[in-house]
Amino acid sequence: MANQATKTATLSIEGEADAIELPVYQGAEGPDVIDVGNLTSKGYFTYDPGFVSTAACDSEITYIDGDNGVLLHRGYPIEQLAEQSDYLELCYLLLNGELPDRTQRDGFVDIIKNHTMVHEQLRHFFNGFRRDAHPMAIMCGVTGALSAFYHDSLDIDDASHRKVTAHRLIAKMPTLAAMSYKYSQGLPFIYPRNDLSYAENFLHMMFATPCEDYVVSPTIARAMDRIFLLHADHEQNASTSTVRLAGSTGANPFACIAAGIAALWGPSHGGANEAVLNMLDQIGSVDNIDKYIKKAKDKDDPFRIMGFGHRVYKNYDPRAKVMQETCREVLAELGVEDNPTLQMAQRLEQIALEDEYFVEKRLYPNVDFYSGIILKAIGIPVEMFTVIFATGRTPGWIAHWNEMISGPYKIGRPRQLYKGAGARDYVPVDNR
Ligand code: ACO
Repeated sequence: MANQATKTATLSIEGEADAIELPVYQGAEGPDVIDVGNLTSKGYFTYDPGFVSTAACDSEITYIDGDNGVLLHRGYPIEQLAEQSDYLELCYLLLNGELPDRTQRDGFVDIIKNHTMVHEQLRHFFNGFRRDAHPMAIMCGVTGALSAFYHDSLDIDDASHRKVTAHRLIAKMPTLAAMSYKYSQGLPFIYPRNDLSYAENFLHMMFATPCEDYVVSPTIARAMDRIFLLHADHEQNASTSTVRLAGSTGANPFACIAAGIAALWGPSHGGANEAVLNMLDQIGSVDNIDKYIKKAKDKDDPFRIMGFGHRVYKNYDPRAKVMQETCREVLAELGVEDNPTLQMAQRLEQIALEDEYFVEKRLYPNVDFYSGIILKAIGIPVEMFTVIFATGRTPGWIAHWNEMISGPYKIGRPRQLYKGAGARDYVPVDNR
């Protein structure tokens, strides 16, 4: 549906005779947006590095109010979804816009279970990687490689092709994730088991061996499901925007999701949960926390407390609150409350939350601070943390990609403020 202007913004520019009228649109929630799309015809671009004030698209999937710590998926608060729903139901909601009834939910769970295996040929791709390859490097490669296996359903203009691709990606990501871990350990791959829930099956593929089954504790399975659920979508974050940008060229969805995985890898985004544990290693002991808090506050020192701060949340990340609760449950179940790394994390959280610098800048623990601690306690190696984030985020990426492809869209093509050399004549090499 085309946007209707509710009011007009007037931009007057020094030296220009006429002011420029810009339409202003109102969303269902959140700030109004000023449509600057016609500015280029007036000889101007807008300038917003990091897209701090830029809405790049219309979307009906997720809403965040960062000042008040609100996160809604299709209108439903994340706290209610975490408490009463589960990951696969949320996947359905993100993809379809409404919660499923019982028949739809059971049907969706069955479809996902039917797609959990990967093509046997794909197993051979793993042998091309070094054993010590980072699992995110493997995930970028093998997820993109899925596009080589599904020629029958790569027509992005066909809604049924987009649907089966969404199901395949949600179903296969845990299988690929667990395979990337097993490969790094030199262990045999474990096939998915369709009698288990999504989270149980992932833990089974991670920790079972052909010689020994892995008995999944309900508390750990619930924590794993929550980790997937709390990471499922977060509107136009860096990786989702990357998926949309790649998708806007008409690229196939597996390639677009591989691009999203690459963007997620960075420590400012999905790599933060891994960075939290690496930082705790670097701090070493509770006695060093004050020194590192000082470093974090020093403008000339690049050190930051990983897992703290967020571009959008200037209040407690609502996902972090749920994750903190789950973290306590898991630590109690595993009886590892006295683990030194975990104790250090809890002490760091306490000190930072009371420190004037963090309070003033409204830096709160984000979802990755606690997810790292939970994953560590479950026994998941640190290099797998971002892979788990990528697995959880897949329905969000695919829902956004599908939303974009289903409506009118343009190739994403930002402009720039050019600061390089002006036009000049080429100088032959002997004259330089
Ligand atoms: N530790 C110490 N100081 C910090 C931190 C931190 N973790 N985060 C921000 N600050 C300070 C900055 O130095 C800056 O100070 P200044 O105003 O004196 O210059 C101020 O707080 C604002 O920070 P910016 O970096 O400008 O905020 P931005 O929105 O660009 O960055 C980001 C947000 C990248 C998440 C940042 O807070 C950070 O690097 N955090 C640590 C990494 C992390 O946990 N990332 C995960 C994000 S959540 C996710 O992707 C799921």
